[in-house]
Amino acid sequence: MQNHPLPRLDEVPEIGVALQKHCRLQRGEVWADPSGKHRVGCLDASLWEDSQKLVGGDAAQLALHDPPYNLVAFEKRGVGEFVDWCRRWVASTNRVLANDASLYVWIGADQNEGFQPLPDFILMMREIGFHPRSFITMRNQRGYGTQKNWMAVRQELLYYVKGSPVFNVEAEYTDIPKILRGYYKEVNGIVTENLERSNSDKIRAGNVWVDIQQVFYRMEENVNGCYAQKPLKSCERIIRASSNPGDLVLDYFAHSGSTLISAEILGRRCYTIFGDWNISVTPEKPAGKTAIRLQPRLNKTAI
Ligand SMILES: C[S@@+](CC[C@H](N)C(=O)[O-])C[C@H]1O[C@@H](n2cnc3c(N)ncnc32)[C@H](O)[C@@H]1O
Repeated sequence: MQNHPLPRLDEVPEIGVALQKHCRLQRGEVWADPSGKHRVGCLDASLWEDSQKLVGGDAAQLALHDPPYNLVAFEKRGVGEFVDWCRRWVASTNRVLANDASLYVWIGADQNEGFQPLPDFILMMREIGFHPRSFITMRNQRGYGTQKNWMAVRQELLYYVKGSPVFNVEAEYTDIPKILRGYYKEVNGIVTENLERSNSDKIRAGNVWVDIQQVFYRMEENVNGCYAQKPLKSCERIIRASSNPGDLVLDYFAHSGSTLISAEILGRRCYTIFGDWNISVTPEKPAGKTAIRLQPRLNKTAI
């Protein structure tokens, strides 16, 4: 921590207060990018009126959400309470998405606590009007664990759709060359080898992604103080596959702003919520109190 001596700001509120004067947005405000493409709202994902404030009357073609997983890094609640909270932002997402649209949700499974909240979230999703399409696992390079258990290196990504949204399959190809030969098949009387029949000389990512580097401090995209940052490459793969240029992408949990940055790189628009204040999950607390802790966090993001 020699180069970054500040502690986690949510754990030391006094420092948050001291930094407040350097922050640009207040709780409840929405920043609109001057080019008219993107919006960032200091809002609460679980409140429908906040979603409305962010999107106005626009409809999104893709939602890419990465909520806190109810694990130790963020505030931890009973799993029932957590799923009720998720139900609220999923319902808002459903209202904001176009008739043909995709929803991706990163979600964790706590192996020490019945693998919650992954199965609970999946069951809740069965009640809502989305159709499941894929259950993706992304492999981290660094894991955590003990000598008495398998090292935990996975991150789960659920893919749902409503209607019949775009799926650009070319986005699925990795940079990894196909090296395995075999799987011969007769086509029009000629025996062909696997590579001769395929559209690409690279392998498809499939639903187990092993080719994406986890964000760590030496990477250019790393945002100090963001403890749950998703690699831009993962956001880009999702955005390329499930939207077209000019489409609107929704992300209710901005944190480092990885979805927003990827959307900008790929010529999509992005509306995102920066709700990075720990007590946001208890909206009954007065908004004035939340602002004190929210504003300093804005300072340490790339947005
Ligand atoms: C897992 S992180 C998102 C990481 C992000 N995808 C990235 O790449 O940086 C989840 C974020 O949601 C925030 N959050 C928690 N409750 C929220 C709420 N009610 N509304 C909006 N954001 C909230 C957390 O503070 C945290 O920053």
